[in-house]
Amino acid sequence: MRFLGIYFTGTGNSKRVMDVINHNLISLQHTLDTVDVIKDEIKDINEYDGLIITYPIYGFNAPKPIISYVKKMVKANENKPCLIMKQSGEHLFWNNASSLYLTSLLKKRNITVTNEYHYLMPYSFIFRHSDFMAYRMNNVMEGLIPLDLNDFFSHKDSHMKRFFLDRFFAWVLRIQWWGGRFNGRFYKVEKNKCVKCMKCVKECPACNIEFKDGKFKFKGQCLMCQRCIMYCPRHAIKVGMFNSWRVDEPYTFKEVPYQKERHPNYCKKNYQKYFKVSEERIEKSKAA
Ligand SMILES: Cc1cc2nc3c(=O)[nH]c(=O)nc-3n(C[C@H](O)[C@H](O)[C@H](O)COP(=O)(O)O)c2cc1C
Ligand code: SF4
Ligand code: SF4
Repeated sequence: MRFLGIYFTGTGNSKRVMDVINHNLISLQHTLDTVDVIKDEIKDINEYDGLIITYPIYGFNAPKPIISYVKKMVKANENKPCLIMKQSGEHLFWNNASSLYLTSLLKKRNITVTNEYHYLMPYSFIFRHSDFMAYRMNNVMEGLIPLDLNDFFSHKDSHMKRFFLDRFFAWVLRIQWWGGRFNGRFYKVEKNKCVKCMKCVKECPACNIEFKDGKFKFKGQCLMCQRCIMYCPRHAIKVGMFNSWRVDEPYTFKEVPYQKERHPNYCKKNYQKYFKVSEERIEKSKAA
């Protein structure tokens, strides 16, 4: 089968997920055409047997570029299945709301979400997980994806649970909509730290950073993706009222000895449950 795989990534985690999906589909003799919704053009879904979507959850919503891309997609001539494999820093049920609007947009294009999964990946915002935790999260994601793809190909549908006022909740908390436009104007480059490598200017997915006459200007189109902050080699970008939530060091995703978390009690029970259920499922599948 031939699939269209669309993704948005701020700091690289969703790209990792899409790469793992691709790797698994190749070994199952399927084809995946991957599309970075920022860089690549709109593809016609009619040329594919199905759609796979990967994104980071931002304030209990799908990121704006994913929504914009789907809005531009043509309607499928016949119904196509869709698999959503999203990821985020918490495995909490209210993140389920992130795909509701997206699902309704897809439905209008004759694309039906049959399976939806949510993986835990390290934070790009609020605080930095340890590299030990990032490695564990990534490992679990890599272990779950083949099992979830197997369910998809066996027609075992999987849907996220809904909750009371979920759509309203997601609408109110869509941080990217107001945070980028408002807080984005308060971003600043610290001159004494900056080495003018222009990495931030080149890699901003919204072309929001301009360097003119020796000065950096942040325009009003910030997506809050955190890429400029995480990958600035000098940690030189200050981000307004969210400055204390910066994650300014990329994750290595390498196996390292145990490291204590900066906030060991944050989402502790939720993480423990996610790891227990997921690692047991992975072990069981290996034993079968
Ligand atoms: C602006 C913003 C809002 C976020 N909101 C949420 C959220 O509501 N729930 C959550 O679990 N994680 C949230 N996160 C964490 C990201 O979903 C997570 O770090 C993800 O792995 C980043 O993926 P990326 O590397 O593909 O950008 C948020 C991150 C950012 C930057
Ligand atoms: S990435 Fe950092 S060091 Fe490089 S130009 Fe931007 S602010 Fe300066
Ligand atoms: S300014 Fe930084 S956080 Fe905003 S969209 Fe560009 S890279 Fe992302």
